[in-house]
Amino acid sequence: MDSLVLGIESSCDETAVALVKSAAQVLSSEVSSQMDLHKRYGGVVPEVASRLHLESLPFLVEEALKKADVTFDQLTGIAVTAAPGLIGALLVGFSAAKALAFRLGVPLANVHHIEAHLYAAQLDAPPVVFPALGLVVSGGHTELYHMADWGQYKLLASTRDDAAGEAFDKVAKLMGLGYPGGPLIEKMAKLSPETTQTFSKARMKDKTLDFSFSGVKTAVSLELQKNPPKNEIEKNKLAAKFQNTVLEEILSRVEVLLDEGQFKSLVLGGGVACNQALRDALYKETEPRDIALRVPPPQYCSDNAAMIAGLGAFQISQGKIADLSSTALPRASFY
Ligand code: KG4
Ligand code: ZN
Repeated sequence: MDSLVLGIESSCDETAVALVKSAAQVLSSEVSSQMDLHKRYGGVVPEVASRLHLESLPFLVEEALKKADVTFDQLTGIAVTAAPGLIGALLVGFSAAKALAFRLGVPLANVHHIEAHLYAAQLDAPPVVFPALGLVVSGGHTELYHMADWGQYKLLASTRDDAAGEAFDKVAKLMGLGYPGGPLIEKMAKLSPETTQTFSKARMKDKTLDFSFSGVKTAVSLELQKNPPKNEIEKNKLAAKFQNTVLEEILSRVEVLLDEGQFKSLVLGGGVACNQALRDALYKETEPRDIALRVPPPQYCSDNAAMIAGLGAFQISQGKIADLSSTALPRASFY
């Protein structure tokens, strides 16, 4: 029998519900963004996020079922983001998922949000070929993984300070652009295609492949104090110079790992994966090496519940079923 799993995501500022068939085919994917409400504070306010999840979730469940033309009694499982995230926000989705699984008598899957960002590459797409190099670039994470299969990972590198998306958001705030910063900075950088310069790169004392993005944020801050952009053209140049530096920081690590010759695919996930300049640059790295670049479409890169339902369905098929007494966790690893 084909599995039919309902997924719930509420770890940060997006409430999302999705229906996924056979752990791969997305039947519906509803996302309600709270961004406009958090914008005025320049970032996500946890308590506001929890309250808004509570308001939106029942409607989104109804809408996702309606769009997929599915009824509750057809569901074979419930999947939910169990970690990591804002604990109050997580608990809203988690409590709803537990109640649904209990009431319907179907298995519950506790899904790790970051692992799901990688699994998004397999939604409405052919299976990923392993071993794969996994690159997660989101608002809270910047990590590289050796992926032997789904569920079998080894952490290769992570950030020593800010995440890539966090750097975009902080720099956008410094430049007075608004939140979230990634799409705004990308748009400005696109208007300055001739800018190829970068800020000086972070230098690690050891031979680690770990990332660091706090240096570039400080460099932009100093530039804004010493040499404030006088017009839109100079602002666009600064955005491009910042974006180039972030991309170079990522690409230099990816190059080293792809040169090892062991990876058959590069799997990209997380909100920063929406960035077209990053997608293009990674294609240039993988194509000549005959490595498959697996990037989800933008709607499955940023936070969504289809990736949660997909990975949850896979976990249930592997017998990885959560206990109804389990709980959500603000921090947890999956490797
Ligand atoms: O994965 P995500 O939706 O939420 C987290 O799990 O963190 O990622 C959100 C992050 C934000 O920092 C946002 O600025 C960044 O992704 N982002 C981008 C772009 N679109 C979203 N960064 C760079 N370029 C973009 N086009
Ligand atoms: Zn995310």
